[in-house]
Amino acid sequence: MAVLPMRMLPDPILRQKAKRIRNIDASLLRLINDMIDTMQAAPGVGIAANQVGDLHRVMVIQLPDEEPIVFINPEITERSGEREVIEGCLSIPGYQGYLKRSITVKARGLDLHGKLFKVRADASTESERDALFAEALEHEIDHLNGILYIDHLESHESLHKLEPETAQVQASS
Ligand code: NI
Repeated sequence: MAVLPMRMLPDPILRQKAKRIRNIDASLLRLINDMIDTMQAAPGVGIAANQVGDLHRVMVIQLPDEEPIVFINPEITERSGEREVIEGCLSIPGYQGYLKRSITVKARGLDLHGKLFKVRADASTESERDALFAEALEHEIDHLNGILYIDHLESHESLHKLEPETAQVQASS
């Protein structure tokens, strides 16, 4: 278990597409444990393998007061609606941006035992947990495809530099 160095923009690995995982072996489980440690140390609500310099297709999301959820080979199966969110990223410290995300997101992935599971997050329910979950699912799966939240900004003015004392207020992933 270890906290790994966070890869920051403009590290080219953040722009690479992570590769599908075929075997869940000991080295992958070690990577996942280290990703959880790194996410919790940041702290963040999610992390994708690219952010710790690895291109396995794996991500972890941890919502407030919940256990981490590990997604191997995750994919979004359905998304609908549009809403504006304020988002940050552990790989782009000190900034946050206004962008559009989906209201409802359905995704699936494999768990640590290779078993398929499905999740659904619906931000229209006024549930803060679902709103954060839907956002994190899109944010982390974007990471695995080499996409960053800044790619979704409508204009340069949508990006804001944070004052150091407020930099930790907005959840990043
Ligand atoms: Ni991020």
